[in-house]
Amino acid sequence: MIEFQAVTKRYDDGTVAVDHLDLSIDDGRVTVLVGPSGCGKTTSLRMINRMVEATSGTISIDGADIRSRKPALLRRGIGYVIQNAGLFPHRTVLDNIATVPVLLGAKKAAARRRAEELLVTVGLPSELAGRYPAQLSGGQQQRVGVARALAADPPVLLMDEPFSAVDPVVRDDLQEELLRLQSELGKTIVFVTHDIDEAIKLGDKVAVLRVGGRLAQYDTPATLLAKPVDDFVAAFVGRDRGYRSLGFLSAHGVSVAPLPTVPLGSSVESARGSLRNGWAVVVDDSNAPLGWVSGVSLSTVEGELRRDDLVSGGSLYVADSKAGSLRTALDAALSSPAGIGIAVDSDGTVLGGVTADSVLKSLDDARRSGEVPS
Ligand SMILES: Nc1ncnc2c1ncn2[C@@H]1O[C@H](COP(=O)(O)OP(=O)(O)OP(=O)(O)O)[C@@H](O)[C@H]1O
Ligand SMILES: [Mg+2]
Repeated sequence: MIEFQAVTKRYDDGTVAVDHLDLSIDDGRVTVLVGPSGCGKTTSLRMINRMVEATSGTISIDGADIRSRKPALLRRGIGYVIQNAGLFPHRTVLDNIATVPVLLGAKKAAARRRAEELLVTVGLPSELAGRYPAQLSGGQQQRVGVARALAADPPVLLMDEPFSAVDPVVRDDLQEELLRLQSELGKTIVFVTHDIDEAIKLGDKVAVLRVGGRLAQYDTPATLLAKPVDDFVAAFVGRDRGYRSLGFLSAHGVSVAPLPTVPLGSSVESARGSLRNGWAVVVDDSNAPLGWVSGVSLSTVEGELRRDDLVSGGSLYVADSKAGSLRTALDAALSSPAGIGIAVDSDGTVLGGVTADSVLKSLDDARRSGEVPS
């Protein structure tokens, strides 16, 4: 556990970057520090590995004051990843990753073997090992930065806006990758971002800081969305927080009703006969949904049902997975041309349909049973 107790940082020019910060960071979890520019996130992070020394207060790791440890020794147990990865430009990818273990006394060959493994761990093809950082995309550089931070197998990883310089699609990939990695490695990760969506997605707990380095709220993402402590936090977590908080509620209670399905290639005549409330789902050989047909869409076609005849359907709701939240169920219903979300199994076959009403009913049940803070 990393513990901040009444930690203040006043820089030489008098700027108070962090003001009496109290924070307990759980082992093996992702803790996110989030807040507007200049609120003291980077300063807080760098105090953990003593790149910045606190002016007053105490930071301890596993009960020991970090001032009792030599900075160089302390940092062996703490990986550090920054925006733009901070790679050595004149060393290959492999040497970048192997640098720290070699510095720590590992044999060069062993360090390179480990570096090769780490490339795979962070999802990079081994062909990239011999390239220089400038020959990589931004997202690949970030992955190398993560691999390098993991090379000495530190129990603690500090990450300062590691994904903010890449485009949103790559960023999404990197976030997914980090969650996958973390589920395997179980590091104590302190992650800084100014993006609340990133904080909500990655954090087991999220600390919202306000300018002046004061802690506004420290909670799980679900609680932060459901119960922001004040207007600052409410504004920071955003307007659609009510909708986004549905992402934390399991959809297991949502009722999935039978849906009429028609195989592609059936006669238009039989498709018409299958409609219920004017709609039916068209499926492929393995019963995976392809789209919808309606009384209106079928009125101008004849013969066999072809792909061109389908009305493309909204998002799917995967019923038996972690992704099966009330948010995905509601989105499936709202984005469907028929007003019915298609629920599929984890292998993609149609299970039935969910309506917005059934999602709201399930939300109401969750409220009554106390699962939702109200
Ligand atoms: N070396 C320094 N000397 C003086 N003031 C500093 C120094 N480093 C940071 N500050 C100030 O301390 C405050 C907090 O800075 P910090 O870099 O920790 O913020 P941040 O939350 O990481 O911001 P950003 O989101 O922009 O990265 C700011 O007002 C900043 O100007
Ligand atoms: Mg910063």
